[in-house]
This record gives sequence, structure tokens and C-alpha cells, in this order.
Amino acid sequence: MFRSSFAALVALGCVNVVNAWFRVACTDPLVQERLDPIISPGVVPSQHVHTIHGASNFGPNYTYNSLRASSCTNCEVEQDLSNYWFPKLYFQDPQTKLFEPVDNGGLLVYYQNRGDGDVSNGGPGLKAFPPGFKMITGNPARRSKKYPVGLGTQDELRERAIQWSCLRYSAGQPGYDDNGTGFPTTDCESGFNYVQFTSQLPVRSDPTAVPACWDGVNLDSPDHMNHTAFLSGLDNGSCPEGYPVTLMKAQDCFLSALKFLPLPSDPTGFSWHGDFQNGWDTTALQEAIDDCNNPNDATGSGDTSACQYLTVNTVANANTCKIAPIVNEAINGTLTQLPGCNPLQYGPGDATLYTAANCPI
Ligand SMILES: *[C@@H]1O[C@H](CO)[C@@H](O)[C@H](O)[C@H]1NC(C)=O
Ligand SMILES: *[C@@H]1O[C@H](CO)[C@@H](O)[C@H](O)[C@H]1NC(C)=O
Ligand SMILES: *[C@@H]1O[C@H](CO)[C@@H](O)[C@H](O)[C@H]1NC(C)=O
Ligand SMILES: *[C@@H]1O[C@H](CO)[C@@H](O)[C@H](O)[C@H]1NC(C)=O
Ligand SMILES: *[C@@H]1O[C@H](CO)[C@@H](O)[C@H](O)[C@H]1NC(C)=O
Repeated sequence: MFRSSFAALVALGCVNVVNAWFRVACTDPLVQERLDPIISPGVVPSQHVHTIHGASNFGPNYTYNSLRASSCTNCEVEQDLSNYWFPKLYFQDPQTKLFEPVDNGGLLVYYQNRGDGDVSNGGPGLKAFPPGFKMITGNPARRSKKYPVGLGTQDELRERAIQWSCLRYSAGQPGYDDNGTGFPTTDCESGFNYVQFTSQLPVRSDPTAVPACWDGVNLDSPDHMNHTAFLSGLDNGSCPEGYPVTLMKAQDCFLSALKFLPLPSDPTGFSWHGDFQNGWDTTALQEAIDDCNNPNDATGSGDTSACQYLTVNTVANANTCKIAPIVNEAINGTLTQLPGCNPLQYGPGDATLYTAANCPI
């Protein structure tokens, strides 16, 4: 089995970066367990297993102050005490039907100056995430593509923002291109690169993005999405009406292995999602946004350690930051069923997110 590694992730990179950016690299996960303080605050356990990165005070509930009081983070930028999480991936053996976890190769979060709001595009400048801000991208119930590429509605942009790439560079093969959203169906000789918000495929150029527009008022919303919106070009362009605050654009990328990787209950890959709760030192983040974007020095080309407002920790140090899971269940090793109630659902209609109370298996 291809074993993904953090070194491979960093070496391959994830984005074709052309202008100002810096990067938060997260190594071994902080913890993996069934918790989700955004979708299911206070609920132990939540619906499916997540791989969680970031600050050590992660738990079933989020407050900005509790996160800021964390003693460490497994991500390398010390001023960032945020949490980032996404589903833990499992491989289903086609013969035995048993599940085994897929290695986690780490997470890279790129912060980019993008969109009409950026000073480089004549805008007023981008804003740091406010204290208490949280957001999600993607939809855990999704099992198929719903909108034609390029439609440009927020729903379509949200769908296009979830991308999977098949890294085939070593074999000199073209990458995988299904305009993004489902799992690759071919072998991925060089690993399996989930590119949440961008594409690095040689054959692709459509830029993609996380929401970089904010309504300026709400730190969260009932669906955890509606207080944010995507730039009109995902990677560039303008914010829609009602979302006047232009944020620094974040994009996540993680590396994983092999093909046939069902997400919890999802063999298709369309349900991929990512969650963010802000624990940044917002002053440092704002200073980095404003000043670490100089095209004439190393900050303009992603050398995060050249940004005087950010302290880059070593991988070894970051790897020491771990917390014990509070949900006591087997999530590793060979499993007959995915943790929680997650029967495989192939779509194309939206899946049911079962709980213990309505579990059909
Ligand atoms: C956590 O969130 C739940 C649900 O919103 C709430 O009932 C509970 O009081 C919260 N607990 C803490 C410690 O904030
Ligand atoms: C991807 O989208 C483009 C339009 O942006 C289209 O021309 C192309 O055929 C699509 N590719 C696939 C594999 O659907
Ligand atoms: C966000 O939700 C509010 C309240 O449900 C609704 O009034 C508003 O139209 C929604 N905005 C968008 C852009 O969907
Ligand atoms: C974004 O669009 C502006 C024009 O609106 C352009 O000047 C700039 O180069 C674009 N940036 C990227 C990264 O494509
Ligand atoms: C499961 O494996 C992952 C990856 O090796 C590790 O980070 C995590 O601590 C393990 N969790 C449990 C509960 O054994």
C-alpha cells in the first residue's frame, strides 16, 4: 500500500501559487474521533469520525477563548490556534469487505491574498477571520454532482470547491479530471491528493476556493454556510451582494493514499467536507495579511518563516501536540463496520446521516 507522508505532501505542494500567500502546515493529527463542535456541538459522539488538526483545546464545544488558551497545536504556525478537520478515510477491501483506515499524510492550509477586495487588485484589503468565526465547506450528505460546471451560483461554486486529484506524476500519466468532486476511479501511482479548494492537475486550470466572503455580522449560521460565500471565480473575483467583507482566502490540501476510499458511508467522494473554527491571534493574522504579501521579498512567494508576525514551529515539535480521544471506540485496525452508523450509500440522491437512534443496520 502506498503510505502517504507529510514529507511527500510538502514536497508535492498542492497549489499553483502565483501571488501572495503563506502556509500553515499540520503534521500528525491532533486526534481522530467522532466529534464535531460545529455541526453537533456538545454531542458525544457525533455522526462520523474526523481527523482533527490544530489547537489542543479542541472538544465537543467551541469558544474562541477556550481555543486561545490551548497549550499547543500540531500545526506549525504558533499564532494559529484554530482547528481544521475533515472525515477520516477508510479503505474497503473489495474481497473481505472489511474496512481499514487510510494513512493520513498531513494537512497544508494555504492563506492567499485573492479577489477584488485585495489591495493588489485595487480593493480595500482583506480581513482576518473574526474571533469566534467558524465555517464549513462541502456537504456530508452529497453523493453526486448536481450543477453544470461554470453555472456560477453559490451552490455550484460550493460543489466545485471540492476537488480530488489523482497524482500520477511518477508514471508520467495525466491527472484525474472529472471536474473535481468525486473520488478518482483510476490508480493513483503517486498517492491520492485531496485538494479541497484548488486543483494542481496539469490538465486543469479552473481555480477553486473556500468561502472568502463574509456577511460581516454572523460568526456562524444555521447551516454553517450561509454567513459566508464564495468569490465569483472561486479563486478570484467579487463577493456576492450581502457579503461585503472580503476575507483572506484559505485553502486546504491533504494527502492520502490509494483508490476505492469510502468516506464514512460514502463510496463516491462527493460528500467530502472540511470544517474550520477560528483560533487565530487575529492581530497577527491581520498583520500577516497586510504585510506578508510583498512580491519583492520572500513573503510574496510563500516563505512563511519570512513573515515577521508568524512563528513557524518545527515538525518534530508540532508532532508532540496530541490529545486523547474522549470517544472510546475502535477507529483503527480492521473493522467490520465504519464507526457510528454509516452504512455505505451510493447515491445519486443525498444520503441519510443516521444516528444510533434511527440506525438501519
Ligand atoms: C455545549 O453545547 C451544547 C449544545 O449547544 C450545550 O447544551 C452545552 O451547554 C454546551 N456546553 C458547554 C460546556 O458549553
Ligand atoms: C469539465 O468542465 C469543462 C467546462 O468548464 C468542460 O469543458 C469539460 O468537458 C468538463 N470535463 C469533464 C470530465 O466533465
Ligand atoms: C441565509 O439565511 C437567512 C435566514 O434563513 C436567509 O434569510 C437568507 O436569505 C440566506 N442567505 C442566503 C444567501 O442564502
Ligand atoms: C484576479 O483578478 C484580477 C482582476 O480582477 C487580476 O488582476 C489578478 O491577476 C487576478 N489574480 C489571480 C490570482 O488570478
Ligand atoms: C488511529 O490512528 C491514527 C493514525 O495513526 C492516530 O493518529 C490515532 O491516534 C489513532 N487513534 C486511536 C484511537 O487509536
